[in-house]
Amino acid sequence: MGHVALDQAVLLNWYDHHQRDLPWRKSCHPWHILLSEILLQQTQVSRGIEYWHRMIEAFPTIESMAVAEVDHVLKAWEGAGYYSRARRLHTLAQQVMLPLSEGGHNGVLPQTAEDLLKLPGIGPYTAAAVASIAFSQPIACVDGNIRRVMARQSAQPAPTVNQTQQWADDCLEPLRPGDWNQALMELGATVCKPRQPSCEVCPIHESCSGKSTPHSYPLPNKTKTKSVTYRCEVRLDETGQPVLYQRPPSGLFGGLWGFELFESFDDPSDHMLGYVGQVKHTLSHRKMTINVWIGRAEGSVQGHHPKELALSGLDHKILELLHSKDCFVSP
Ligand code: ADE
Repeated sequence: MGHVALDQAVLLNWYDHHQRDLPWRKSCHPWHILLSEILLQQTQVSRGIEYWHRMIEAFPTIESMAVAEVDHVLKAWEGAGYYSRARRLHTLAQQVMLPLSEGGHNGVLPQTAEDLLKLPGIGPYTAAAVASIAFSQPIACVDGNIRRVMARQSAQPAPTVNQTQQWADDCLEPLRPGDWNQALMELGATVCKPRQPSCEVCPIHESCSGKSTPHSYPLPNKTKTKSVTYRCEVRLDETGQPVLYQRPPSGLFGGLWGFELFESFDDPSDHMLGYVGQVKHTLSHRKMTINVWIGRAEGSVQGHHPKELALSGLDHKILELLHSKDCFVSP
């Protein structure tokens, strides 16, 4: 226990009386707790509850997942998003089922954060959360909620991961580590909220240095947005339909259909292409400017009917530009 001013007994007492009724909190099955933490990484709590029930029904034990086909696991996960989580969980289950002599765990989930961290799909947060909640290991976890509580309590606009971990280590309640970690997360999720914090009902407002200006802590991350210029070469077939390409499964707009894009400021080398205009499109980390050119497809190349294929928002904008310039015979 460290030298943080926060009153642990008061926060734990608040958690005991005000925690949300989340189904995995009634379970002491480590596999069920692991499932909840993996689901909550990138899924909101209400959907997390739905998928947690679905997953433990389909895979009540590690072994049941280990022997299942990965497609069966993906099917149960369908709609929860970030499918690599499901694939890695399947691999994790198979790895845990292996005998010790083959680098496995004889079918038993390891209990320390250090050992959990070596399993696929388990990062520092999940390792500490599962070790503390399922196995009462005295280890502090750090997530976005805890970082926000820390930033406000200590009035730090931009705490680093290391600073947040240090703070969490200092204020860990080692006798009830799982409840302690969840109490901090719960406070961040339900009281010390990002937009409208309810400071008036906060059990630890006394020790909070940031309560007069909670919105200053933490400051939003500066997301580095890159500006990128592309050249798009649209080709029409003999009937006036555009030729589309299916993008590779990984990368920008993976698996969707669209026009050919080149990351370049240059005009096309094909002098038969005519300039149509410019389209702008913004993604979370990228500002795209696309110079659109048009020409005929070679010989017998067949175009596509864009309405029948899945296109990205950017490709729809390009289509609209082409329509607005009457580039197509058919709409
Ligand atoms: N977010 C992720 N896991 C959580 C938990 N166990 N309690 C509260 N919030 C969480």
